[in-house]
Amino acid sequence: MEYINVVLFTLLISSGSCHGELNFKTLDTEVGPVVYVNLLFRHGDRTPITVYPKDPYKDISYWPLGLGELTKEGIYHHFVQGSWVGKRYAQLLPKNRRYHQSAIRILSTDVDRTLMSAEAHLAGMFPITEEQKWGGIDWQPIPIHTVPEQLDKVLAVKHPCKKYHYEKEKLKQSAVYKDLMKKLQPLGEYVSKYTGEPFTSLRIFEYLYSILLVEKMNNLTLPEWTESVFPDQLKVLAGYSLAVPTWTPEMKRLRGGPLVKEILENMKKKIAGTLEPPTRNISIYSAHESTVSAFLNTIDAFDFLPPPFASMVLVELRKTAQNDHVVMVLYKNSTDPTIEPYILTVPGCSAACPLNDFEALLKPIIPVDWDLECQHQENVEPALNQRFDSLAIFGFLLFYNFSINLHFRWEFRKTFFNPAKIIILFA
Ligand SMILES: *[C@@H]1O[C@H](CO)[C@@H](O)[C@H](O)[C@H]1NC(C)=O
Ligand SMILES: *[C@@H]1O[C@H](CO)[C@@H](O)[C@H](O)[C@H]1NC(C)=O
Ligand SMILES: *[C@@H]1O[C@H](CO)[C@@H](O)[C@H](O)[C@H]1NC(C)=O
Ligand SMILES: *[C@@H]1O[C@H](CO)[C@@H](O)[C@H](O)[C@H]1NC(C)=O
Repeated sequence: MEYINVVLFTLLISSGSCHGELNFKTLDTEVGPVVYVNLLFRHGDRTPITVYPKDPYKDISYWPLGLGELTKEGIYHHFVQGSWVGKRYAQLLPKNRRYHQSAIRILSTDVDRTLMSAEAHLAGMFPITEEQKWGGIDWQPIPIHTVPEQLDKVLAVKHPCKKYHYEKEKLKQSAVYKDLMKKLQPLGEYVSKYTGEPFTSLRIFEYLYSILLVEKMNNLTLPEWTESVFPDQLKVLAGYSLAVPTWTPEMKRLRGGPLVKEILENMKKKIAGTLEPPTRNISIYSAHESTVSAFLNTIDAFDFLPPPFASMVLVELRKTAQNDHVVMVLYKNSTDPTIEPYILTVPGCSAACPLNDFEALLKPIIPVDWDLECQHQENVEPALNQRFDSLAIFGFLLFYNFSINLHFRWEFRKTFFNPAKIIILFA
């Protein structure tokens, strides 16, 4: 029961102050200017990463760029996001938003679409100045750092970790998870029948949502069987599937923890003057939907919706009039430059959270020595099952009556999108 009380408590807090009392436009005067920003984004629109066995569009001729590659729309959207970022943080950049190595560092996962997204983003962020013209097109090369996937323990969120896989297995073996899978069985079988993909985990819904969304965005007509499940039901399940890798505190610590730790350290080093170089004002991380959802869920600010293409999390360090440092987390999940980002709140703190409080709150999910913690082994304790209660609530709510029924879905949406209400109903 203890865990569920924590969930109840945190959801009540976060839903109450979701948008905060702060106004996005006046943060500089209300809170204080930004002195450092960490930017984590998902790559832009891409072709499907994979197709399903019975996919009418599985022929590669539908995807001339190849699978999982950034499209023209993806390039454009990141260019637009980059211009928005450049304008918003112009005071952190050299005059005229001129690119200079001392102001920024960019890290990308070692994947074509994230590397390309970072390039498009930077082209929008740093319009070439007169003195930077070099005799060709109005574009300049900007360095993007990367780490091979097998060595990436921070951004790719899939580096092998024994303890993590053990924790994940423990979740999957828990009675409530098994019960959830049982409740999902009818939907799983339905989807499995038409896709030709076996139903073994929630991942099938995540993959399918992502494939159908891309096909729809490419103006392909979706098969009739998808109408009852796409987009609404699959979107909700895809969102939950994205939260599963960071479901428990232990999983958060080992999966999302390393990136949260790095971002926190960037800000602390900025204040201490120990960044390399100390003049650096911006860190950019170009990654995936799984990275964005892991980061947000690890700090308990995830909305359980799949992060759209080119969505961005902005972790700002601001300096108040009293010379204190506060952290703000913003989420820009739209590529429309006129749509303001959402101000997220880490449960237990205010939207402008004092850095020390932010660090103290997140301490339990920050690994001290990730490699060492990953080695750790222990035996399964059946008593731990109860901490998965919140998953059971979700399962119950969603599959209480799995019949595809518009009224039900509407009721469900109304309830689902208000987590506090779910908890009140079932606590
Ligand atoms: C970093 O931001 C400060 C303002 O907070 C600015 O004075 C400084 O020039 C910026 N650094 C670089 C390298 O542009
Ligand atoms: C899909 O159709 C819309 C409306 O005709 C068009 O604006 C858009 O460019 C098309 N998208 C693709 C990827 O062809
Ligand atoms: C964007 O994020 C906000 C806050 O989490 C959420 O309410 C909204 O539905 C999201 N929109 C999209 C398109 O994901
Ligand atoms: C589920 O809902 C449908 C439509 O509202 C109804 O016909 C059906 O009997 C319900 N099933 C159960 C098990 O309650």
